[in-house]
Amino acid sequence: MHMHKFEKIWLAFGIGALVVFLVTIGVSAFYLGNKPPSCLTTINPEKVNQTKPFTEPGLHKVEGKEWDYELVYVASAFSFNPVQVKVPLGSKVRVIATTTDVVHGFEVAGTNINMMLEPGYVSEYTTTFDKAGEYLIVCNEYCGAGHHLMSSKIEVVK
Ligand code: CUA
Repeated sequence: MHMHKFEKIWLAFGIGALVVFLVTIGVSAFYLGNKPPSCLTTINPEKVNQTKPFTEPGLHKVEGKEWDYELVYVASAFSFNPVQVKVPLGSKVRVIATTTDVVHGFEVAGTNINMMLEPGYVSEYTTTFDKAGEYLIVCNEYCGAGHHLMSSKIEVVK
């Protein structure tokens, strides 16, 4: 079979790129131990209200952790609990959220918090609120007739 020189170069480039890709992935996964971020914390969606920390939704000061506060949310059709919360300016906050029924979204407009809340899983994200003001939390996963009514507010205060 005759192959044009350019075809051979292109084939070699393609195979080379594949090898580089696989080696990079392999080194990253097996040598550096990188894994995709995953929701490893599970919860019984029928017992959310009896499971810590969801027994007390809202902002809680914590000691001895990487963050200053834990901000706990329970989402259900069609609201977030708590509806409104005040966060001190500059504090490092761990947002911990779950849902009691269907899939909901959890997007804090104007920040990089954007999580999917799935029944049976706990979604977490750490962020620092270093700009005062009001932040709107919206559900960005269509969850039913009242989807557009689902919102909550974070007030970052001095
Ligand atoms: Cu909850 Cu859309």
